Amino acid sequence: MTSSSQSTPLTVLGIETSCDETAAALVRLEADGCGKILSSVVRSQLDLHAAYGGVVPEIAARAHVELLDAAILQALGEAGLTLDQIDGVAAAAGPGLIGGLIVGVVTAKAIALGRGVPFIAVNHLEAHALTAGLTDRLAFPYLLLLVSGGHTQLLVIKDVGDYERLGTTLDDALGEAFDKAAKLLGLGYPGGPEVERNAAKGRPTIKLPRPMVGRDEPHFSLAGLKTALRHEAMARAPLSEQDVADLCASFQEAVADILSDRTSRAFELYEKHAGKGAQRILVLAGGVAANRRLRSTLEATARKHIFRLIVPPAELCTDNAAMIAWTGAVRLVRGMTDDLSAPARARWPLDPDAPPALGAGVKA
Ligand code: KG4
Ligand code: ZN
Repeated sequence: MTSSSQSTPLTVLGIETSCDETAAALVRLEADGCGKILSSVVRSQLDLHAAYGGVVPEIAARAHVELLDAAILQALGEAGLTLDQIDGVAAAAGPGLIGGLIVGVVTAKAIALGRGVPFIAVNHLEAHALTAGLTDRLAFPYLLLLVSGGHTQLLVIKDVGDYERLGTTLDDALGEAFDKAAKLLGLGYPGGPEVERNAAKGRPTIKLPRPMVGRDEPHFSLAGLKTALRHEAMARAPLSEQDVADLCASFQEAVADILSDRTSRAFELYEKHAGKGAQRILVLAGGVAANRRLRSTLEATARKHIFRLIVPPAELCTDNAAMIAWTGAVRLVRGMTDDLSAPARARWPLDPDAPPALGAGVKA
């Protein structure tokens, strides 16, 4: 993944503060293009937000201020390095919660200025997109399905900085839909693992809609599915344990069908965007990738379309700073650095040329 001009290894400090994980990591890009994680510290703020059933932006921003310095020091300590030994510092500069992003960006800029090393403003979505290069030495292009608490996107990853969005969500992100489903069924936060655990004891017999299935463009819409689940739950109230399990199983099955259909559509469009004969690889990223049922469904769908599915290890699929540091290194070696006026950006689409997906509350 590197330019041929690189002859020495590069070590980059990465900082991630876009949502509710405060993370710092050191990654080395070797001269041969391989990546090595020297340390990766993730301090989850889950406990602080659990009582609210979701992330509270102001609480998150304050917690990043309190946790970030210690996370950076720990990452340096575990890597056995000092700030004098880094070649660049990268921070997630968007998209995400602006208060948290500012904390990470300002910290990274201060280190860059103090040490006289380059600063790299990393797009958080780009970091998810490029992680497979770190773990699997994956060459371009490939198809990415990113499914997390904040994002649901299908993208063609053509090269560093060259991304084409095929599909996005018109309303809720997939992880958000899992979280809301769990909340309305009285389960804990984050909801995805709770829904999966309960679904294992249930039968997918409750009829729920599959919004957008069959549509030409591989977009998603999840708000209607969540509303239908609410109606089915209300019709059965008070809910028995078996009801909850059946509702979870039915919800998960609907999501599996939606993902399979939407990704199939992206498979059909892939060659047109990636080029004839392009390698046929689907990378799955984001916290929802942890769901075994969804993973096995996507594996089968990929096989049917003669694609290979790659899922980076769970700790690199969920939010972390190693992916930020790796993206920083990959950009640094190409001379793609930023000056200290680069802003934190709450919204920062990976493909600014993507036509707007019509719908309420689109998350680019
Ligand atoms: O990528 P991530 O750690 O954070 C961001 O949102 O950026 O993703 C977290 C999301 C949450 O919405 C959580 O409910 C969902 O991933 N999730 C799952 C599972 N594990 C986590 N969703 C479905 N099934 C799971 N097993
Ligand atoms: Zn993320």
